[in-house]
Amino acid sequence: DSIKVFAPATVANVACGFDVMGFALQHIGDELIINKTDQPGLNISEIHGSDSLSKNSEENVVTVSAQALLDALEEKPSFGFEFELTKKVKPGSGLGSSASSSAAAVFGINELLGNPFTKKELVPFAMEGERLASGIPHADNVAPSLLGGFVLIRSYSPLDVVELQYPEDLVATVVHPQIEIKTADAKKMLRKQIELKDAITQWGNIGGLVSGLARADYELISRSLHDVIAEPIRGMLIPSFKEAKEEAINAGALGCSISGSGPSVFSLSRGERTARKVATKFETLFKSIGLESYVHVSPI
Ligand code: HSE
Repeated sequence: DSIKVFAPATVANVACGFDVMGFALQHIGDELIINKTDQPGLNISEIHGSDSLSKNSEENVVTVSAQALLDALEEKPSFGFEFELTKKVKPGSGLGSSASSSAAAVFGINELLGNPFTKKELVPFAMEGERLASGIPHADNVAPSLLGGFVLIRSYSPLDVVELQYPEDLVATVVHPQIEIKTADAKKMLRKQIELKDAITQWGNIGGLVSGLARADYELISRSLHDVIAEPIRGMLIPSFKEAKEEAINAGALGCSISGSGPSVFSLSRGERTARKVATKFETLFKSIGLESYVHVSPI
């Protein structure tokens, strides 16, 4: 009557897909142990790896997303759940920290209840965690954390989540410079209106990226990994962002942009060798400007 769940960290937006695209990082993620309890209710017993998160069930994404799932059940369980959360994805990193915890919670509870919901049906419950964390229930982190791989949110209303085909040899390099950017703040920075010419560039690229992934056309993937909407504004918050991008491309990456709302920066490469080369470039760059950073290389 207990389960241990791993839910991957995620890179949202993937350059051109603001709020509509994300992918999962196989090697990084939060861990959650869920135990059934005799009494109904949700309770967080321990949080390892972060001092800043609340154990209050109305203030933690784990319990809020779990509650959303329970609310949708016609027959309520006669028992409750206790959670022990180990944060491996740092809050404020731009690697889908809240999403990883929310995904783990709804996935684990669903298993303990005998799977009343499909994985796709769990996405809206985990989105409630995102509503708590950033004010906006975006799905581009929770959907890939739950489903794995590259995921497109074709529509929010009604919710239409599409699992994408992609080549297996894509490897991500992510660098997390040790500054914190709150998603809620990074969302407020963006303009509410965009120029038609920028919209044209962006939807051309998102179409190109989806097609490039499906056909394993690396040139097309590379040409499409650009963001003219969020990156020009949010990039200013990340020290040496332009240089990091240049270094990644020079090292052979297919593209490089901000992971989610930052400050992490991601690049995609074909094969691990190039991804490791990019990792070394990132490490050297951030060291040279005296900014502590963590670099991960992960398959998708
Ligand atoms: N799509 C969201 C944003 C992701 O860019 O604000 C946050 O991780």
